[in-house]
Amino acid sequence: MPDGYNAPAASIVEEVLMGLSQPQKTLPAKFFYDAEGCRLFGKITRLPEYYVTRTEQALLQQVAPELPRMPGCALVEYGASDESKAMMLLDHIGASAYVPVDIADSALQDLTQRLHTARPSLSVHPVAADFLRPLALPHQTSSQQRFGFFPGSTIGNLDHATAHRFLVQVRETLGANARFLVGADLRKDSSILIPAYDDAQGVTAAFNLNLLSHLNREIGTDFELENFSHRAVWNDSEGRIEMHLVCAHRQTVSVGGTTIVFDGGETIHTENSYKHTVPQLRSMAERAGWRSEKVWTDPAELFSIHLLAADDVVN
Ligand code: TRP
Repeated sequence: MPDGYNAPAASIVEEVLMGLSQPQKTLPAKFFYDAEGCRLFGKITRLPEYYVTRTEQALLQQVAPELPRMPGCALVEYGASDESKAMMLLDHIGASAYVPVDIADSALQDLTQRLHTARPSLSVHPVAADFLRPLALPHQTSSQQRFGFFPGSTIGNLDHATAHRFLVQVRETLGANARFLVGADLRKDSSILIPAYDDAQGVTAAFNLNLLSHLNREIGTDFELENFSHRAVWNDSEGRIEMHLVCAHRQTVSVGGTTIVFDGGETIHTENSYKHTVPQLRSMAERAGWRSEKVWTDPAELFSIHLLAADDVVN
């Protein structure tokens, strides 16, 4: 191995090789989020077709004043590349600390800097980590009650088994008397869903393709971006939107010295976005040991926000 080929990079190569060796090729979605990916994702959230962010934000305005107060608690946000949604909750729940957890280190640093200036009295303890792995919360928050927050319908990006494991793990991480607020997009007609994941301006396409540029830069793969194109598919039996990168013609790509063959028309499955119903999400949470305390939906029933409580919470 060449010098400077350190352990984390090697494990990325392994993860990528594992995904590209499956009959249906896949790539880990966490590699979407380099600095350019975060910028493009920000653009997705403002697209006319992408109703998700707008709808959740409006619903959060209504939900925030109705949340239980947990004075002095720590607000732990999973997938926090931007603090705007958390800011809507802090005062209502009475949080004195904020723990943003995200894979995108650069976004976390920017966020921490902004908050340091805007809210100097708030203790901010960023954690740069893959939140699907077991997580140690910063020791400064060890005596605080925890209020977890998982917005953006990121729960929909997890398959059923992973979502179950995640919900169990969060319950263990957040500890006694915790609450967990989860935003989940709802099942709806594919005529609304498809454009939300395949917009007219091609921003989602650029976001999907950026996964390949990120890998080219990070681990030296040689994907030729012009040979791949974005495709969003509604998979009705699985209840999910699938994101694919379609390969135009037969070619090879080198990944850490291993050659991977792509056939023309073959796809890399890059992401899923499961669309649940309210009862489905509630029973998923209950199977993971949470109690469903309250659910809100917007008037058009596009989106849902679930307040979950640990068993030991007394109303
Ligand atoms: N949680 C978001 C969702 O499923 C993430 C997302 C939006 C996304 N658009 C995307 C992920 C496009 C990958 C590609 O709605």
